[in-house]
Amino acid sequence: MLDSNSSTNHTNSPLIEAHNLSHSFENLLYKDINLNINAKESIAILGVSGSGKSTLINNLSTLLPPLEGKVNLNGVSDIYSLSDDKLIGMRKNEIGIIFQSHYLFRGFSAYENLQVASILTNQNIDMDLLQDFGISHILKQQIGEISGGQQQRLSIARVLTKKPKIIFADEPTGNLDIDTTNKVMKIIFDYIDKNSACMVIATHNIELAQMCNKIFYLKDCTLKEYSKKISS
Ligand SMILES: Nc1ncnc2c1ncn2[C@@H]1O[C@H](COP(=O)(O)OP(=O)(O)OP(=O)(O)O)[C@@H](O)[C@H]1O
Ligand SMILES: [Mg+2]
Repeated sequence: MLDSNSSTNHTNSPLIEAHNLSHSFENLLYKDINLNINAKESIAILGVSGSGKSTLINNLSTLLPPLEGKVNLNGVSDIYSLSDDKLIGMRKNEIGIIFQSHYLFRGFSAYENLQVASILTNQNIDMDLLQDFGISHILKQQIGEISGGQQQRLSIARVLTKKPKIIFADEPTGNLDIDTTNKVMKIIFDYIDKNSACMVIATHNIELAQMCNKIFYLKDCTLKEYSKKISS
């Protein structure tokens, strides 16, 4: 349930709205990107390495103001016009970010990593979820003692513990075999459905992209929607 996170105005508007987003570092990455993502919807962003997928996720997820354009999240208009405190509050309570690198606390056990998310957001740790992820037996171990794939599943479990309304995932299953990827993604898609949440995934993995409702390709500084049948 999302009760403790329902600080914002819930309307029928999309959970994510991007208007005319542009970003560049040395070179222009993209220009005038428009995107709407509704509750219960998942989208994948494909694109060659360096095309700007992670940057776009950062623009959409409170981490990096775009050079131009606006982002509305969960009924809040133009998130980058919020005060720092409000923006951080939104990141903490409404958004879950699964990073390309996991950012687990290495001096802590697996369970302590989950406790941090649980305490910060006042949500319970869901032991059934950990069972489903196949990591309930490693909870006492230190992060350095668990495998890369277990760390990846733990970091996804940590994000879901927060009960976010909007999930951003940057190559979330890079360390997982295909069977584990399928299991983990099924849990995330079930979560999205049950909680009327939504998700944006950046990935190179076409099979993973095809599990989402829509696929976009970031190319030539623009985001194009592709039909779901892409030949690999
Ligand atoms: N903070 C930064 N400062 C300067 N340049 C950056 C910064 N972040 C990203 N870039 C550059 O922007 C471009 C896009 O990077 P980004 O990480 O968004 O690509 P990506 O599509 O996610 O790539 P990958 O598939 O390898 O993860 C790259 O050329 C990168 O070097
Ligand atoms: Mg990236």
